Amino acid sequence: MTELTQSVRLETEGSVALIIVDNPPVNALSWHVRAGLFEGMSRAVADGASAIVLICDGRTFIAGADITEFGGAPKGPGLAETQAAMEDAPVPVIAAIHGTALGGGLEVALCAHYRVALGSAKFGLPEVNLGLLPGAGGTQRLPRLTGVPKALEMMTSGRHIGTAEALECGLVDEVVDGDLAALRAAAVAFARRAVDEGLPLVRVRDRDDKVLPARGDTKLFADFRASIAHRTRGFLAPEYNVRCVEAAANLPFEEGMQVEATLFREVMSGSQSSAQRYAFFAERAANKVPDIPADTPTVDVARVGVLGAGTMGGGIAMNFANVGIAVTIVERDQESLDRGLGVVRKNYERSASRGSIPAEAVEQRMALITGSTDKADFADCDLVIEAVFENMDLKQSIFRELDTICKPGAVLATNTSALDVNAIAAVTSRPESVIGMHFFSPANVMKLLEVVRGSASSPTTIATAMAVAKRIGKIAALVGVCNGFVGNRMLFMRGAEAERMLLEGATPAQIDRVLYDFGFPMGPFAMSDLAGLDIGWKAERSTGSTIRELMCESGRRGQKNGRGYYTYDPDTRDKTPDPEVEQLIRDFATSKGHEPREVTDQEVLERLLYPMINEGAKILDEGIAIRGSDIDVIWVNGYGWPLYRGGPMWWADSVGLAEIVERIRTYGAALGGRHWELSPLLERLAADGGQLQSFSR
Ligand code: 3HC
Ligand code: NAI
Repeated sequence: MTELTQSVRLETEGSVALIIVDNPPVNALSWHVRAGLFEGMSRAVADGASAIVLICDGRTFIAGADITEFGGAPKGPGLAETQAAMEDAPVPVIAAIHGTALGGGLEVALCAHYRVALGSAKFGLPEVNLGLLPGAGGTQRLPRLTGVPKALEMMTSGRHIGTAEALECGLVDEVVDGDLAALRAAAVAFARRAVDEGLPLVRVRDRDDKVLPARGDTKLFADFRASIAHRTRGFLAPEYNVRCVEAAANLPFEEGMQVEATLFREVMSGSQSSAQRYAFFAERAANKVPDIPADTPTVDVARVGVLGAGTMGGGIAMNFANVGIAVTIVERDQESLDRGLGVVRKNYERSASRGSIPAEAVEQRMALITGSTDKADFADCDLVIEAVFENMDLKQSIFRELDTICKPGAVLATNTSALDVNAIAAVTSRPESVIGMHFFSPANVMKLLEVVRGSASSPTTIATAMAVAKRIGKIAALVGVCNGFVGNRMLFMRGAEAERMLLEGATPAQIDRVLYDFGFPMGPFAMSDLAGLDIGWKAERSTGSTIRELMCESGRRGQKNGRGYYTYDPDTRDKTPDPEVEQLIRDFATSKGHEPREVTDQEVLERLLYPMINEGAKILDEGIAIRGSDIDVIWVNGYGWPLYRGGPMWWADSVGLAEIVERIRTYGAALGGRHWELSPLLERLAADGGQLQSFSR
């Protein structure tokens, strides 16, 4: 055994050389890995190895370039020399893959002559998710191996494919079962066979057969672009990936490589990739809580209880059934229970009919969900999540009951969207076991979970909620108690200003368009229509004192009855601005003494977003969010903030805090209102040249 660098060593089995990478946690291609790989190839060839196997220690094959090196000064050798040494080696080179071969890792594997993988391995070029494209020849080699349609799909979605798919499309040559030792043995055996049988030393770069069908086929690329246009709106990287595959189809390898290099430099130096790389690390940081060590004991959650099978409860239950955790769902009566479970079943059936889950999964998952109308059935649950109406008296009476029913140590969570978690915890004899788990609607789809720490929540309760979130595939951020927590509290500020601008002369369509163009999937009024205008509205208490009340009084309920701020086509659900609504708003504004004026798009944008930034800074100052980047994680994953703009804190830094402070002062002086009162923290950071995204108490 020879240590080549701190992370790469060379071993031999008979005449076969093994280059072994050991760079935890994910064997990223740090400079010393690149140096070791190059050295390993040179030595193995010089030592006269009959074949070379590239394999990794630890949990995975190389999971990509070392993203922490991006943006810094280049260090150590590039990857291209190693890749050339692999392709041009005079003896067979075999990549042995377990875990994930991603990005630069897969691009290295594509330079081996053959690929052997464990059955559980996954493969992908996820650079697009970082606002990038595979810049180490992946854009030119993948289509040559898998064909153009598959490469387009993989590179623009970043999806990881399994071994069955990889075998079928030609990405791997052999799949073996077992552990890392079995993989090593199989790869060495493959290498010996390659030598004995004189298998050709296949260079992927030389293969054209799989790309020829797409050569000159402009329609194929146009159709593909159209098919992803909706999903990738605003993002640059998907289009750049498509251009590279187009080059792979139409140009000789070396010319395609030049296209890749040029486009890679462009995306790498752009602001979108810098935002998306920031978001990658922000998401991972959010899972860490400074005062809760990683080894804090957690409750072993084997059965979950959900109270309420309404909009949220049903979706919450699905999250657990999806990962094989048994759920007891309790409703107040049989009819509500049947309705709630019926919706869950329909959701699963729709997923199965779309092919996103296998047909048999519908019954498997439904079988994990037990319905009941008796809270006593929560007795054996390790975690109970309450999702009944948003009413403090109701929630308190329920938590008193749960306290008597649930076993000691069980975590009691509330899905309240704005109520005081401490006041709910206080009615129990075990406030240390109470916490907020704020899911977002639709709860089975939205990635975000705000975990709301009560003043008494114990480390075990917090660690359990964070661990459960990860288990069900959510991105969790820990927040403190305040009205609306982090996300909704900032949203309230945006909503208040949107209403005001209607009175001044902006229209719902203008305000929504400005946010849509910024990159949100929809603006506040389209969102209200979707949620239903009558949430929390009661005819007998309505006094016509807000535009929304007036809308409800005139029978407008939003999308559900086809009439809200917009009118909706009953078949297509397409929306059109409604002159009647605009008149209603104008009349109301006039009655309040407002003279309509033109509100520019720039003013709309500033007045929607700057109060949010200001509120975010107050939230940070109060310690409600742990870090600025947590706020960004919340807005990107729960509220549709465009990923390529990082999040409100990252974006504010990119606009310039001094500029924002100046605008907040100006608007505040003209308009007044608590949400324009400048945050002292924001003021200080602007003066000191500090940043919101990296701020942490
Ligand atoms: N570079 C540096 N650090 C990385 C990394 C990378 N490529 N990938 C993961 N890490 C770090 C994470 O930040 C995290 O660090 P922490 O423990 O300090 O928070 C740690 O590795 C573990 O990561 P996860 O928590 O994400 O672990 P999981 O087991 O859940 O997931 C994974 C593992 C699937 C590999 C996931 O980390 C992942 O998707 N990584 C990114 C893969 C990727 O995008 N690769 C392409 C990079 S760009 C590239 O290759 C450009 C090339 O074309 C030139
Ligand atoms: P919902 O009205 O759709 O469902 C509530 C369900 O609770 C109903 O099915 C009702 O029958 C049931 N219920 C009421 N009292 C009960 C009792 N005593 N015992 C058993 N079941 C009872 O309400 P939704 O939208 O699901 O909201 C639930 C909670 O989730 C609220 O606290 C809400 O603020 C919060 N929330 C809602 C979001 C949304 O977008 N709808 C988003 C995030 C949180």
